[in-house]
Amino acid sequence: ARVLTVLGTRPEIIKLSPVIPLLEERFDHILVHSGQHYSYEVDAIFFEELSLPSPRYTLGVGSAQHGEQTARILARLEPILLQERPDLVLVQGDTNTTMAGALCAAKLGFPVVHLEAGGRSFNRAMPEELNRIIVDHIAEILLAADEIAAANLRAEGLPDERIHVIGSTAIDAALRHRERAATSTILQQLELTPGSYLALTLHRAENTEPTTLPGIVRALNELAESYRIVFPVHPRTAAALERQGLQLSPHILAIRPLGYLDTLCLVQSAQALLTDSGGLQEEAAVLGTPILLVRNETEWRYLVDAGVAVLIGNSYEDILAGAATWLSPTGLSRLRNARSPIVSGAAERAVAIMEAAVNT
Ligand code: UD1
Repeated sequence: ARVLTVLGTRPEIIKLSPVIPLLEERFDHILVHSGQHYSYEVDAIFFEELSLPSPRYTLGVGSAQHGEQTARILARLEPILLQERPDLVLVQGDTNTTMAGALCAAKLGFPVVHLEAGGRSFNRAMPEELNRIIVDHIAEILLAADEIAAANLRAEGLPDERIHVIGSTAIDAALRHRERAATSTILQQLELTPGSYLALTLHRAENTEPTTLPGIVRALNELAESYRIVFPVHPRTAAALERQGLQLSPHILAIRPLGYLDTLCLVQSAQALLTDSGGLQEEAAVLGTPILLVRNETEWRYLVDAGVAVLIGNSYEDILAGAATWLSPTGLSRLRNARSPIVSGAAERAVAIMEAAVNT
């Protein structure tokens, strides 16, 4: 049977990395890259580090307004789907590539498999939330990371027989690469000692707008008086800082985006992780690093419920108050001592469900 996978951004590459080798082994597998991410440091480096095969097709859509970017993916993917006629089309997550890939396939009648189905922030102002909702409602097979995600799908009226709880492939990837990451030299390169700094990432649309980013930067600059902060800056955030004329404190070590192994190593040795990323918080949970979410809501509720992550909010006041509580010795030890809710084996379960689907 033939499976066609569409990916396009850094998180899709990482979260599909444990699945792709299994698909290559068990199916006639066609990998399509939309080109939504195209810079080496958020794209090609992950293919190298995670030993992934080169895509058979690249659509080269690049950055654009959402409508334009989505339209380019639809127009460029359609002839490929018509030519390859896959039995299943796999998409992951909540990006414009995920949504356009699923929509294009579903309209042509090719069954869609959605990995990471059912995540909900309940904030429809997020582009990711709209993408997830659309994809879940047009997919045939919904692979949910946890029971909360499965319940979200049922609450939207999606039938039980489409829903499978399989765990998270981000966890599989982090578990698999944890040891290799320990050989990274990133701490030496940045002259950091383990446990002496906070790791920070920010990239979400709602945190890079002129209504939010200035307050976030002001809070971080104040925090940097008491903590060493290491900040690999996402291209979107770098552009927003520049556009809004915002200055990071010289005490914040702002660096280019890191590769996968260097990121795992940086997070592993951090006192805590401050982030708005989905995947990175799962990686931190694997590594046992306390997580402060610079957001007001999360789709990874299970990490917050387990007590390994805490939502602190994204305003100036919220960030400083959250840091005071959770970066204190008591706060940190509460997060560190919470029982980790991670489960492995999601990739294997995903592929087994896809095999069963094409064999019936
Ligand atoms: C996208 C996803 C987001 C995901 C994130 C991970 C959507 C709606 N958003 O956001 O869900 O969490 O990827 O990174 O699909 N840029 C580069 N090089 C690149 C890619 C982007 O420099 O390779 C810059 C461009 O200036 C661009 C900006 O980053 O305008 C934003 O890129 P875009 O692909 O629109 O979204 P992300 O912010 O990366």
